[in-house]
Amino acid sequence: MSAPKVVKGDAPPNSIERAYGAQSTYNDADNSISYTTMAKFPPVKLLPNAERKRILVTGGAGFVGSHLVDRLMLLGHEVTVLDNFFTGSRTTVSHWVGHPNFEMVRHDVINPFLIEVDQIYHLACPASPPHYQYNAVKTIKTSFMGTLNMLGLAKRVKARFLITSTSEVYGDPEVHPQTEEYWGHVNPIGIRACYDEGKRVAETLTYGYQRQDGVDVRVARIFNTFGPRMNPYDGRVVSNFIIQALKGEDMTVYGDGSQTRSFQYVHDLVDGLILLMNGPETRPTNIGSSHEFTIKEFAEHVKEIVAKVQKEEGTYKKTAEIIYKDLPQDDPQRRRADTTRAEESLGWKSRWTVA
Ligand SMILES: NC(=O)c1ccc[n+]([C@@H]2O[C@H](COP(=O)([O-])OP(=O)(O)OC[C@H]3O[C@@H](n4cnc5c(N)ncnc54)[C@H](O)[C@@H]3O)[C@@H](O)[C@H]2O)c1
Repeated sequence: MSAPKVVKGDAPPNSIERAYGAQSTYNDADNSISYTTMAKFPPVKLLPNAERKRILVTGGAGFVGSHLVDRLMLLGHEVTVLDNFFTGSRTTVSHWVGHPNFEMVRHDVINPFLIEVDQIYHLACPASPPHYQYNAVKTIKTSFMGTLNMLGLAKRVKARFLITSTSEVYGDPEVHPQTEEYWGHVNPIGIRACYDEGKRVAETLTYGYQRQDGVDVRVARIFNTFGPRMNPYDGRVVSNFIIQALKGEDMTVYGDGSQTRSFQYVHDLVDGLILLMNGPETRPTNIGSSHEFTIKEFAEHVKEIVAKVQKEEGTYKKTAEIIYKDLPQDDPQRRRADTTRAEESLGWKSRWTVA
């Protein structure tokens, strides 16, 4: 019988799960999996009642949401996660199940939901192209009806509302780097439109509720983000390259690789979301990295880092090759966040580099 091994998607090093003994262990011999939940929870800040907020995080079981939930829990707030687990997983936040400050609800945001809260972080929406294109009609329903329901809730309970919008509202931009003043260049009927136009209409709704009903709103326009707990197989460029490089497989670059992206680490994004929620800035605010790579440079970078680490660990077999495939429709050519607004009005600055 072979020794049990830790499965893919297990807690990354230095994560809360690992530090407190939660893990999933796969046993090859009988194809079974055992979960160990935490023996005890990480200490959370003890806040006075007046400072402890009741916070709803929609999409809180997803990649970004789970990191946000960790931070809000550690800061001592009461957190309710609302998620339909379409792309998220219970395991991303399972280390908080049982904690008195934590609740998880399976619910689809296209249906109304009532709860008394002080703040709503509205993240629920699939974010990777294969996931949001899988059911385009559902994606746009999630963006429109989900945001409508959450804004209605915010209005009713007088909660502050933050939506995670996206740099995709700028489409294939003619302005570079992208400032919040730029209105964008989006194909409204292309394959990306369910997501891009979904987020644009979600922003329109958000400011409609602000103007008409006085809802206290915040809009974060997030640029490409990476970090632990990303679904390694969800078709985003960072995870694609890393997985391909680790396996020594061909690394797929779409187009000639001259298109650019800027990548931020998820902890920087979480800093920005919390600062935005708790600060006075109500205009849309870019949160992203201003360090721009061409996709080809980024692939080379990943390839070199993976080969270096594998050589150090003695697991090196072969260096991956970069191959080129046709560019998908409406793929943006240039992407770099102008983060002047976040720096000036939130005092935010990214602290992590890609390397
Ligand atoms: N990760 C990025 O690079 C990035 C960039 C720009 C914007 N964003 C935005 O940030 C948010 C989170 O993105 P992510 O990367 O964590 O994606 P993700 O797919 O990992 O997480 C989305 C979460 O929302 C849930 N969800 C989807 N549809 C739902 C519905 N109808 N009802 C309830 N829950 C639903 C999913 O199950 C998942 O847990 C999204 O709004 C996304 O548009 C992310």
